[in-house]
Amino acid sequence: MSKGCDLVVNGRSVHVDADEATPLLAVLRDELNLRGTRFGCGTEQCGTCMVLIDGVPDFACTRTVESAAGKSVTTIEGLACNGALHPLQQAFLDEQAGQCGYCLSGILISAAALLERNKRPSRAEIVEALDKHLCRCGMHNRVIRAVQRASAAMAGAAA
Ligand code: FES
Ligand code: FES
Repeated sequence: MSKGCDLVVNGRSVHVDADEATPLLAVLRDELNLRGTRFGCGTEQCGTCMVLIDGVPDFACTRTVESAAGKSVTTIEGLACNGALHPLQQAFLDEQAGQCGYCLSGILISAAALLERNKRPSRAEIVEALDKHLCRCGMHNRVIRAVQRASAAMAGAAA
């Protein structure tokens, strides 16, 4: 019988009554109404479901909600701060780094984790960090430019 799980989502403590084996993605979207994290393949092949779990990008499609119990989960809705876009979100807008946009929430999550651990990544490091993400619209070059732009903006803000 399910006991539910306690977790922290975007800085807020929540209790969910879902069965412990329920995919984290389903809980985020259907119970917590956080629809920015998307379902693509369900098999860790596309990256569109990526969220941060204790700051590390992970697949919400295959993680169970139980496996996230007691951990801090950050979704795309948690990237903006005090109503201001995350520098990555602004850079993606400025570079028009999206077409349909379906892949972008997962990409932004992985890019945010990259810039958290490496303020000025090389192009190769950006490509490696986003290796688990598919973009069917072929926006890869713009995505890389947007991450570079955000990196530069964040470095400038810190100077
Ligand atoms: S939906 Fe999770 S990796 Fe594709
Ligand atoms: S912008 Fe359409 S899948 Fe990436």
